[in-house]
Order: sequence, then C-alpha cells, then structure tokens
Amino acid sequence: MRDEVFRHNQAQIVDFAFTEEVTAVFPDMIRRSVMGYETMVPVTGLAAARHLGKSGLAFDLGCSLGATTLAILQQNRSADIHICGIDSSAPMIEGAKQAITDPRAEFRLQDIRDTDVSGADVVVLNLVLQFLEPTERLPLLRSLQTQMQKTGLLIVSEKVCHSDPEEHAYYDELHLAWKKANGYSELEVAQKRSALENVMQIDTEAAHEERFREAGFTRVRQWYRCMNWASFLVQP
Ligand SMILES: C[S@@+](CC[C@H](N)C(=O)[O-])C[C@H]1O[C@@H](n2cnc3c(N)ncnc32)[C@H](O)[C@@H]1O
Repeated sequence: MRDEVFRHNQAQIVDFAFTEEVTAVFPDMIRRSVMGYETMVPVTGLAAARHLGKSGLAFDLGCSLGATTLAILQQNRSADIHICGIDSSAPMIEGAKQAITDPRAEFRLQDIRDTDVSGADVVVLNLVLQFLEPTERLPLLRSLQTQMQKTGLLIVSEKVCHSDPEEHAYYDELHLAWKKANGYSELEVAQKRSALENVMQIDTEAAHEERFREAGFTRVRQWYRCMNWASFLVQP
C-alpha cells in the first residue's frame, strides 16, 4: 500500500510512532525513504545467516514486519536455526506473524531494552538504535555484549550524521531530492521530518564506533555507507 501518511496538511504534527496506519504502508515508506534499505537488509541477512551455522540463535531487535528475519531465513536452510523477532509495536508484530510462518522464526511483542539475548549467535539492530534515547544506547549495547556468544555477531544499521555540518547539509539535500524523485511532496517531507524530530536522534559514525568499543566490543567493521546511512558488523 502506498505511503500517504503525511500527504495532507496536518494542523498539529504529533511525534512519529509505529502505529497501525504506519504499519499498513511501512514497506513502501521505508523503501522510498531509507536510501540503501534494499541493500542493507539482504546483506545483513546474508552476514547473519552465515554466522548462524546449522543450529544458531538470532535476535532481530526492532524487527517491524520481519524483513531482516526473512532475509536471514532465506539465506540459511538449516531446520535447526531459531530467530526471535522483537518489536514494541503491536501492529508490526501482528503483521510479521501473518507474513512469516516459517517455524524457525517467532515474533514477540516486547521492548528491546527488556529482551534477554543470552546465548545469541547473532543480534541485529536494523534502523532501531536511533529510536532509543541517546543515554539508553550504551547500556543496551553493554548488555548485548555481555549476553551474546563471544563468537557472535552484532549487526547495526543506522541513519548517521556528519561532524562537519556542511557535509551533513550536502547529503541531506541530496536525500531530499531523492525522496522527491520517489514521489514525496515538499509538504510530506517537511511534515515527516517534524514528526521525527523528537523521536529520532542520530549519531556520527565515529560516535557509533566509539560506543561499540566502550560497550566492550573489540572488532568493528563498517561494511556500508551510502549518503547518510551506515551499517556495521561488530564482534564481542
Ligand atoms: C525503522 S523500523 C526497523 C526496521 C526493521 N528492522 C527492518 O529491517 O525492516 C524501527 C522499529 O523499531 C521498533 N522499536 C523502536 N523502539 C523499540 C523498542 N524500545 N523496543 C522494541 N521495538 C522498538 C519500532 O516499533 C519499529 O518497528
């Protein structure tokens, strides 16, 4: 279904949330808004699947409709792997359960800050950390690092900003042009931007890398960067 959530003039812009209305148009919204989504998801799915071996355990934290979970399932044919998709949005979890019925996957309505990932071989945070309060990001990463297998893999994809404001503005403008080329109007872009202002605070790549290390991760690979998006493969 086509995303028209911000199409009409809204008298009052409320903070963005993953509601039923957003869930219904989510695949179209994310494809037309996040540059590189169609690369990040399959490749993170591939990296995760390879790391799971024959009987590994994975967590897809902030799974939305399960696109990453599906990408992992498609790349690993073993019947003994298990993937838990976690999300705090009830419509998203309902949608994921309906769309993905592979018995190797389960979907749980839960806050990722309360999720026990003990023994996980793979943990994915695809476009999710950016929705936590900045002060909550390091504690979450610390707890993942402690709980997951020492041979495990953490995959984190995020919108990022540049430390140089001019560089940031350059890519931001190009992103805006891309969204318009994808059929969003000036009004839609402006209204969504206002709605996201309070709920999505982004970091620089350097801040991400520093935080991974502070959380106890020893190996950090940035495998992807496109405009204002980046993805990292991180190991304890
Ligand atoms: C941009 S979407 C993630 C996209 C998804 N990972 C994918 O690859 O298609 C962000 C998701 O994170 C979820 N989320 C945000 N904060 C959360 C939290 N504290 N606990 C659980 N889920 C959360 C939202 O409900 C939303 O579905």
